[in-house]
Amino acid sequence: RRLRGKLSLADFEHAARRHLPHPIFSYIHGGVEDNHSLHANLAAFREYEFIPRVLNDVSARHTGTELLGLACDAPFGIGPMGISALAAYDGDRVLARAARLARIPMVLSGASLTRMEDVAAEAPGYAWFQAYLPGNDAQAGRMVGRAEAAGFRTLVLTVDTSARANRENNVRAGFSTPLRPGPRLAWQGLTHPRWLAGTFVRTLMTLGLPRFENTANEVAVPVVSRKAARQFNRDNLSWSHVALIRRLWPGRLVLKGILSPHDARIAAEHGVDGIVVSNHGGRQLDGAVAPLRMLPAVAAAAGGMAVMFDGGVRRGGDVLKALALGADFVFVARPFLYAAAVAGEPGVAHAIALLKEEVRRNMASLGIRTIGEAGRELLIHQRADPQ
Ligand code: FNR
Repeated sequence: RRLRGKLSLADFEHAARRHLPHPIFSYIHGGVEDNHSLHANLAAFREYEFIPRVLNDVSARHTGTELLGLACDAPFGIGPMGISALAAYDGDRVLARAARLARIPMVLSGASLTRMEDVAAEAPGYAWFQAYLPGNDAQAGRMVGRAEAAGFRTLVLTVDTSARANRENNVRAGFSTPLRPGPRLAWQGLTHPRWLAGTFVRTLMTLGLPRFENTANEVAVPVVSRKAARQFNRDNLSWSHVALIRRLWPGRLVLKGILSPHDARIAAEHGVDGIVVSNHGGRQLDGAVAPLRMLPAVAAAAGGMAVMFDGGVRRGGDVLKALALGADFVFVARPFLYAAAVAGEPGVAHAIALLKEEVRRNMASLGIRTIGEAGRELLIHQRADPQ
């Protein structure tokens, strides 16, 4: 019933806006400061238009692809999102299960409220772990050891958060970790009873007090202290930390948050296996360039690394545009969390199926049969003259 009328990823966003308390929806939906980068991410896709090809017998089409040794049924996966379990009951495991069944990767956030071991067990191979690189070598070693023991094969280091983002929008919307109990929060809970009973109370009763489970020192969300906040200070990180992790981590290593071709080159020199071209969904530096605009240059500098992309992918056409501009794979974040919040695992499965079907349908219109055939010649930039 909750899937009725869900015809596109945007429908889940509309439903989540009603379903979730305003502070939580705003935390997921928003960017930082004036939301320039958030909007630029979406607008960048509209700058490119397709040049369809016809009469190409596209009856045998495949959306599958291989990414870092993983066989995927679609060229997209679920990007990492912290504290997902506050928006959707058991959110991380819901996302991981849906991803495994659809055979696409799901990246568990290092700022999640679910033990990494539990998520790894849900989706062997398909669950990846995203770590915020600890600036302390001993902590970094422990984190890598724990992820390896949990069974993760791919580690994603998010490298674009050297400062804590400017959280003024969260403050305005009343979102904080810890969530501050008070009349405002109580009102939000009472006016969103389905979330209150189905997510919040159910979590407390069956899973217990939400905690950051995968940080160097585990802390409970309702009692986050200044000590915990200090963990977010990562301004001492440098490429030497990447070199350290590369030595410690035997699996595939991905850096998330690369926008400069120079950084892509340095990453390749450090033996990194893949990069995610991303401005963190406009949630870090407002005014950071839309990743789609940097994709061709970064892909050209990436050497043999896998090039992944995220930021503003909402349609199958967006997936194909990113692939055509040089990505091997894309990640989608917010829409899948909305789907999990509104309709749980069936919701995420439905959202994945919708996006995959859009990719498949657009492949037909573009005259391509495989993901690898999505090339630059399929696109024209708005300002360029047709040839
Ligand atoms: C994020 N993102 C993120 N990235 C990361 O590396 N670690 C994290 O813990 C989080 N947490 C997080 C929480 C929430 C609520 C959102 C919406 C996003 C960024 C995310 O992985 C991705 O880069 C962006 O959201 C861009 O993709 P979309 O949302 O435009 O598809």
